[in-house]
Amino acid sequence: MPLLYKTQFNSQLFYNLASSPFPSTSNQNFSCRITFPTMSCSSQTTFPILRTVTISYSDLKDRNVDLSTKIEEGFGSNGLGILSVTDVPGFSSLRQNLLHLSPRLASLPEEKKKELEDPNTRYNFGWSHGKEILESGKPDLLKGSFYANPVLDVPTTDAYLIQRYPHYCGLNIWPVNSLPELEVAFKALGKLILDVGLMLAYHCDQYVSKGMEINENEGLEQILLRSRCHKGRLLYYFPVQLSTINCIQDGNFSSSWCGWHTDHGSLTGLTCAMFKREGVETPCPDSAAGLYIKTRTDQIVKVVFGEDEIAYQIGETAEILSRGYLCATPHCVLAPKGVEASGVDRSTFALFMQPDWDEKLNFPKEMHIHKELMLANRSLTFGEYSDKLLDKYYNLKN
Ligand SMILES: [Fe+2]
Repeated sequence: MPLLYKTQFNSQLFYNLASSPFPSTSNQNFSCRITFPTMSCSSQTTFPILRTVTISYSDLKDRNVDLSTKIEEGFGSNGLGILSVTDVPGFSSLRQNLLHLSPRLASLPEEKKKELEDPNTRYNFGWSHGKEILESGKPDLLKGSFYANPVLDVPTTDAYLIQRYPHYCGLNIWPVNSLPELEVAFKALGKLILDVGLMLAYHCDQYVSKGMEINENEGLEQILLRSRCHKGRLLYYFPVQLSTINCIQDGNFSSSWCGWHTDHGSLTGLTCAMFKREGVETPCPDSAAGLYIKTRTDQIVKVVFGEDEIAYQIGETAEILSRGYLCATPHCVLAPKGVEASGVDRSTFALFMQPDWDEKLNFPKEMHIHKELMLANRSLTFGEYSDKLLDKYYNLKN
């Protein structure tokens, strides 16, 4: 069965697997923490709705508080690979500021948006629209993305590195004349999500260190702290008309806005989406729309978190480096459907926190994900590892 794999490289790749569609984890004992109402979807199957495990900002910033129980509940073997942080000072307004700019960016004249494109980075910096290929083989015209590194405008000036790792080492492209507010808003929100993510990474290290030894400077916090290649993605889903929505409705999860995938980096920060109808903010038009996660036992559950919360998901690299103490989960975003969704646009933001391209990763001898990528007794940099991962999916595709 062809499956869709989505990476933060802005590439959607198909690959075929005989059995399990996603890398299996070493932990198989998922238990449903909470019983909530169920939600029906296009397949008329019902799915439990689960609230994310939450950690308050005041607890998170205190390095003396033991948050192991919460980390385990959210990211551990029985968790969903996601948790959210509440009461982050300034977050709500920074989220609003940036997400309100998303439709304005998307509605810039085509020639202005063209100036923001960067084919040399395979559209992994600046504006990207219609560059991703859907499972149907057609370009994805439903959404536009704007990518930038919120911390460094110029991660490196080394021409070799820029050519070698264009998706990490490219330069930011800001609409300095057509939408100057974007740079300020993007950097402010991206840096805040990074700062909070680093606090979370500290507590992840504390939790993981109870089960395995972490060498000095090799924990998640330090790896992310010294990385030069964090990447923010502002996503805009264009308003669709009823006829298009019906096409989406006729399909299943894989034909929705964002296919099933696991993030391949370390930690992904997410905001709740903002919906607008004719420029006016509106509630989500379809209660079934949103984030779905596949559990260890292949259950599909809908996961919800508050508008004023930052959600964080574990990526594959964090799972590998933590020997499975932190667990990534396949997830998927389901588009709103039905008459109410007609004419409604959607904006959201994600920050992909990942190791530096030059970071030597101390992979375990026994890897439960992508084990074929590792040569015996050899460490890879994150850049090399990412290349191998991309090669793997391209080879599977071709
Ligand atoms: Fe994702």
